[in-house]
Amino acid sequence: IGALVIAVDGPAAAGKGTLARRLAAALGLPYLDTGLLYRATGRRVLDRGADPHDAAIAAEAAAALRPEDLDRGDLRGPAADMAASTVAAIPAVRAALLEWQREFGRRHGAVLDGRDIGTVVFPAAPVKLFVTASPEERARRRWLELQARGVAADQAQVAAEIRDRDAQDANRPVAPLKPAEDALLLDTTALDAEAAFARALEMVRDRL
Ligand code: C5P
Repeated sequence: IGALVIAVDGPAAAGKGTLARRLAAALGLPYLDTGLLYRATGRRVLDRGADPHDAAIAAEAAAALRPEDLDRGDLRGPAADMAASTVAAIPAVRAALLEWQREFGRRHGAVLDGRDIGTVVFPAAPVKLFVTASPEERARRRWLELQARGVAADQAQVAAEIRDRDAQDANRPVAPLKPAEDALLLDTTALDAEAAFARALEMVRDRL
C-alpha cells in the first residue's frame, strides 16, 4: 500500500489552501501548496526581466527552482498571480515540476492543493476534493485577504483578475483546471473556514 495522498483542487480563492493545510494537520500528513511552485517559477522569470510567456526561459526557471524560492515573501499579488498562471500553461514548465510533486507525495503521503492534482499529478489518489465557491464570494475573500495584508485593492478589479486567471487556467490545453471524474465537489460559498473544514474531513473519512 502506498502512502495516503489527498488531492485538493479548485479555482482561485475558493479556500483550498486553508482547507488543505487543516486537513493535513488533522490527518498527520505533510502539506504541499503546489501553486507556490508556479508562483516561484513566474517570479524567477519576472526577476530576469523576461516575459512569462517565453517558454524556454520559463522552463529553465522551473528546472532551476530551489526550496528556498518557495519561502520568498513576494509570491502573492496581482503580477505574481498572473505570471504564475502564464508559466503554468507552458508544457515544459509543468513537466519540470511534475516529478518533484509526485516524489513529495509518495515519500510519506501528503495533502496537495492545486489545479491538476486529481487529474494529472496523482490520478489514483483515493480522495479527491474539488473545492469551489461562487465567483462573487471568491472575489470577496481575496479582497478581504488583501485588506488584511494592508494592500489597497478595488473589489471589482480583484473580481476581474480572478475571472481572467480562472479562464486562463481552465482553457489551457495541458492539465486544465477541472474536477477529476471521481472528485467530490465541495461548494464553500455558504460555509466559513470552520464549517468547510468539518465537511471536508467528513468527506475524507467517508472515502477511507
Ligand atoms: O493556487 P495558486 O493560486 O497559488 O496557483 C497559482 C497559479 O498556479 C494558478 O493560477 C495556476 O495557473 C497554477 N497552478 C497550476 N497547477 C497547480 C497549482 C497551481 O497550474 N497544481
